[in-house]
Amino acid sequence: MTLLVKPLKIQPKNLLIWNEDDAMSRHTPVMAQEVVEYLKLSPGMVIVDCTVGEGGHSEGILRKITPDGHLIGIDQDDDALSITRLRLSQFEGSFTLVENNFQNIRDVIAAVGRDAMDGVVFDLGVSMMQLGSPERGFSFQADGPLNMRMDKKGQITAFDLVNNLSEEEIANIIYRFGEERYSRRIAAAIVAERSRHAIATTQQLAGIVIDAMPRHERYKKIHPATRTFMALRIAVNRELEVLQTGLREAIDLLKSGGRICVISFHSLEDRIVKNEFKAQARDGRVRIITKKPLIPTDAEMESNRKSRSAKLRVAEKI
Ligand SMILES: C[S@@+](CC[C@H](N)C(=O)[O-])C[C@H]1O[C@@H](n2cnc3c(N)ncnc32)[C@H](O)[C@@H]1O
Repeated sequence: MTLLVKPLKIQPKNLLIWNEDDAMSRHTPVMAQEVVEYLKLSPGMVIVDCTVGEGGHSEGILRKITPDGHLIGIDQDDDALSITRLRLSQFEGSFTLVENNFQNIRDVIAAVGRDAMDGVVFDLGVSMMQLGSPERGFSFQADGPLNMRMDKKGQITAFDLVNNLSEEEIANIIYRFGEERYSRRIAAAIVAERSRHAIATTQQLAGIVIDAMPRHERYKKIHPATRTFMALRIAVNRELEVLQTGLREAIDLLKSGGRICVISFHSLEDRIVKNEFKAQARDGRVRIITKKPLIPTDAEMESNRKSRSAKLRVAEKI
């Protein structure tokens, strides 16, 4: 297990690699108001942000729990932690950032000398910084190596999956995690292409996916490679598996009356959250606060496209 409290590694000028303008204004946290409200924050609380990213939710939380409160921010991406450390510098002493996978939340909490928390938030998926950094290989919008690891020390990349798995295994990943109806055609095209040369870049893969699609599917609003890329990202980072473990552990570590807020961005994630909350409610461990998931306001969806698929579920420890 890796458990590191990271020193600042990248300087502000390096942040310009992934976007224009000012680093502090780049990532707009989704449903930030709702998260702050539903966590019922007050000064002195201990809150864990399991997906600290660029620190948007963490900043809003720190405003409410300081003085005396403490935020523990977890992310498996050390670039994200470096950005957040800068962003939160005004709260120095009131937060601890930890590079780790949230499935290890129990070890993280213990390592920072705590044994329970007043609230926890998960804002799942990939960040704008990750998507906007071509060298991280998450996006087909710009060319980059087929990587897709949120944890840069992770063992498996998208390159490994695409170039080494059997046709059936690739089709299953694309179908299960991307809910892509053309998974078999795409897998066959990938295997045909890689028999000539390795598939090494995001745009190479995107091109193969587009060519494998029936003509009428190629010009839709959503890019034809979206579901395939999402599926590979989920597989590389074992996103669904770690989510299940992370949720269970987080609920276990909540104090009575403490709340868990989870923002998900696709149906597979949301189903896991819904089912876990239901199971825990049946066992008398939590009370579900949001019978139906909350969605962003029209204004937020208008101003932040990424928020459109967001769903927020909240439960309270009994
Ligand atoms: C959507 S972003 C979070 C954005 C953040 N809430 C903000 O306002 O800036 C998701 C972040 O969670 C991290 N992440 C995803 N899965 C993780 C996991 N299993 N363990 C730790 N971090 C994870 C990603 O690296 C990414 O930085």
